[in-house]
Amino acid sequence: MRVTVNNLTFAYTQKLVLNNLSFSLKSGEFLTIHGKNGAGKSTLIKCFLKMLKVNHNAIFLDDIDINNIKQFNNVGYVPQKTEFNYEFPITVFEVLSCAYVKKRDAYYTEIVNAFDLNKIYHENINNLSGGQLQRVFIARALLNKPKLLILDEPTVGVDIDNIKTLHDTLANLKKNGITIVLVSHDMDFCSDLTDYYLILNDLCEYTFKKAGDGNVPC
Ligand SMILES: Nc1ncnc2c1ncn2[C@@H]1O[C@H](COP(=O)(O)OP(=O)(O)OP(=O)(O)O)[C@@H](O)[C@H]1O
Ligand SMILES: [Mg+2]
Repeated sequence: MRVTVNNLTFAYTQKLVLNNLSFSLKSGEFLTIHGKNGAGKSTLIKCFLKMLKVNHNAIFLDDIDINNIKQFNNVGYVPQKTEFNYEFPITVFEVLSCAYVKKRDAYYTEIVNAFDLNKIYHENINNLSGGQLQRVFIARALLNKPKLLILDEPTVGVDIDNIKTLHDTLANLKKNGITIVLVSHDMDFCSDLTDYYLILNDLCEYTFKKAGDGNVPC
């Protein structure tokens, strides 16, 4: 999926967070977003997902203004941990079912196995560890075979084996032409997959640069 951001400006009532931000990605490109706490990374992600209201002509997915998109079936999202109500009484199976209404097939089983969810399949999510829960959300985002996958700090609290699984899964998705937007404080995770870096700072300034063009400022 192609992504175009065109002079995007966003403010929470009085607070300007994103100022005149522009960049674009072709299908299959991998963007890593860095920036200090509060720089606006999650805000940008929420703008993409229409969780925050943005102006017309600011964000396009496959050349369609997101304000004209009704359903985001092609977009997978792994929220930052702080965004989720962990007390909600729902099992792993139910979380996955919300995303995947089709009959369970080989792909479903592959994802459940890849993220080692069999043992916790019928657990209530508020009984899971932080890393286990993160794996459930990563699996959920992948189930609908998104054309654009957005992950907001997906490795926080996840153990090394599962970080490797996630890395290899993302490498595979990239190979299959899926566009990926990753927010991470970890400079190494997926640096080998990254095509572009977007670095935000708390002065509403940004740098968008191709991977390999010098050091990544942070
Ligand atoms: N709902 C909100 N209402 C008002 N201000 C907000 C809201 N959400 C975030 N902010 C402010 O907007 C700025 C950007 O927040 P955002 O969550 O996008 O940062 P971030 O880069 O994702 O940080 P982190 O690395 O901590 O996740 C911060 O100053 C934050 O306080
Ligand atoms: Mg954030």
